[in-house]
Amino acid sequence: MSSVNILRVGDSAWAAVTQSSAFVFGLEAAGEDSRVVQWYWGPRLPDEALAEVVRQAPRRIHSGFHDPRDVDELLPVEGGARWGVPSLQVTYEGGVRSVELTFAEAVVADSEIELVLRDPLGLRVGLHVRVASEVVERWVSLTNEGEHAVRLGRVDSGSWVIPERAGYRYTGVAGAWAQETQLHRAELAVGETTFTSRTGTTSHRANPWIMIDAGDATEELGEVWSVALAWSGSWRLTAQRRPEGDVAVTAGFGHDGPTWHLAPGESLLTPPVLGLRTCGGYGAASRAWHDYARHHVLPTPFEERPVLYNSWEATWFDVHEEGQIELARRAADLGVELFVVDDGWFGGRVDDRRGLGDWWPNPDRFPRGLSKLFDTVRELGMRAGLWVEPEMVNPDSDLYREHPDWVLHYPGRRRDTLRHQLVLNYGRADVREWAIGWLSGLVSEYGLDYFKWDMNRSFTQAGWPDAGERADLLWIEHTRGVYAVLDTLRERHPGLRIESCSGGGGRVDFGILRRTDEVWTSDNTDARDRQAIQEGYSYLYPACAMSAWVTDSPNPHTRREVPLAYRFHVAMAGALGIGGDLTRWSAEELEQARSLVAAYKAVRPVIQHGRLHRLAGDPGITASAVQYSHEDRVVVLAYNPFALAKRPPRRVRLAGLDPSALYESAEGERWHGQTLMSHGLELPTWFITGPDYRSEMVVLRRVSG
Ligand code: GLA
Repeated sequence: MSSVNILRVGDSAWAAVTQSSAFVFGLEAAGEDSRVVQWYWGPRLPDEALAEVVRQAPRRIHSGFHDPRDVDELLPVEGGARWGVPSLQVTYEGGVRSVELTFAEAVVADSEIELVLRDPLGLRVGLHVRVASEVVERWVSLTNEGEHAVRLGRVDSGSWVIPERAGYRYTGVAGAWAQETQLHRAELAVGETTFTSRTGTTSHRANPWIMIDAGDATEELGEVWSVALAWSGSWRLTAQRRPEGDVAVTAGFGHDGPTWHLAPGESLLTPPVLGLRTCGGYGAASRAWHDYARHHVLPTPFEERPVLYNSWEATWFDVHEEGQIELARRAADLGVELFVVDDGWFGGRVDDRRGLGDWWPNPDRFPRGLSKLFDTVRELGMRAGLWVEPEMVNPDSDLYREHPDWVLHYPGRRRDTLRHQLVLNYGRADVREWAIGWLSGLVSEYGLDYFKWDMNRSFTQAGWPDAGERADLLWIEHTRGVYAVLDTLRERHPGLRIESCSGGGGRVDFGILRRTDEVWTSDNTDARDRQAIQEGYSYLYPACAMSAWVTDSPNPHTRREVPLAYRFHVAMAGALGIGGDLTRWSAEELEQARSLVAAYKAVRPVIQHGRLHRLAGDPGITASAVQYSHEDRVVVLAYNPFALAKRPPRRVRLAGLDPSALYESAEGERWHGQTLMSHGLELPTWFITGPDYRSEMVVLRRVSG
């Protein structure tokens, strides 16, 4: 088999091949109604067999109502004989809404191809396909080569056909604030199922990905097709299951409503839509996504995430130098490596009604600026981090008084506040320059190592009065503006690390993860609730990018009481942080925390960089366990929230081990990999008798084989 990723498999057909899969596509019909279709998406075939999947004489059962080809295309347009979900809608001069494309050329490089099509009315459409590990990345470039402006409706990055199977089931996540990434799995309904965000961000409500299987996949077995969009603004993903049986998934930026103006000579590039086909159940799909995130997305994937302390739940808005120094001392004593000051350090920000936009230390709270605090943090051996919310402004702020026109608004309409704040328009160059100026200034002045970049409200009255015809482009340009500011900051300050936050996990996706190092997964820090959130998160995103804190008990949000070890073991499944009020932790709790932090650090590379197996259970509801394997080590984190709720199995069967190798526990017990996978490991935590909320971490080392 060839090592080149894009192979020519016929006169006008190509294959994007990964190690285990092939995606074959090409021109089905040339001429005035050129159709670029997907011929195959399945296991990798020998190179010489790839051409066999190209149908030379496509099935055609034409009637006056039906064209069987209309879901096979890589980018079904609105135009001609097509009635499925259009991936591309264009309105030309004079109200013409039929896109009519003719194939022009294929531009091929080793791992990338662009198929160029043109509409005689002046639109150039580039369909791009690239291979990145097991993932096929696709995107679209549009250029208006005509004499008149055009308006774009839906501009998806591409449509994927899920191969014919007896059944179709989807898996995805949905949620709400403090309840992100809740897993949903159901039969895909006949019709059109749309997952979308209209908030201006990725959103808590849904996350831009879907997995589809034939209804027979399990965690360990079965073929799974996933589609994900790498974009952090509003988005839309539609899975259409036609009565005839076929299923296609189209996804792209934007949502229903806004339309985009493309002037003569202008271009528009979509974000990538990603396709992944895996064998080995949802577990294998997740591991392939994690692998993709590590090798093609995250800026610092192989760096160990520091154990951080964040003051938010300890102090809320009551932030001042003395209190922060006190927390810093206690955090350092536990082994914390990065100290992050959360909301309340700047301007007049003593509550959530004022101050956003005024990014200088509050003179009453920090009379000496932040130097004293961060000097102490460094003397204590920790790095320094700061919370910021650069896309927002409170009307009660100097910034808003000076620049009321910088926010999203329509003249003469209300400016609805949410959490008392308005959204700054990052489509504007002056807003971006302002943001880069003060953010970069803070990094330089205080030698900051870390920003927690927050975004705490959805868009309303999303107008851009100066932009005229281009105003709706705001939905794209705001996100691009945020990307640009993040990229500039990283370029200027290569040591700076950034956490993405949006009221917890409201902005998690492969677009933001290209320029941030981890994500604040949820504002819900209740360990039991968190388990379900973390499970959904783990479907696409790796543990190193999943920030998880241990906070107080009873939990400030849910009032649930959970033992410290359980809280730690849940947070240790990701990038561990501490967010409790350490001034109220007892000496015993501090001692236990110190040893758990040390235990985490000892296995950190295994958890953060390892291969994840969701071993068993319904996290947070029944006994459950997750496993990470990396090099010669295996870590199992096991949980049992309710002693008598349901009889758990006594043993957990491990996964992905070398069957003939020997694995040794800390106590010196040894088992063959096959025994651990087939018979399992006995877990005291899972015994039926015992208190609620038992948890444990088992570490095994491969000693031979
Ligand atoms: C958001 C974040 C929290 C905290 C607050 C501060 O809700 O998710 O972690 O930073 O803002 O206002």
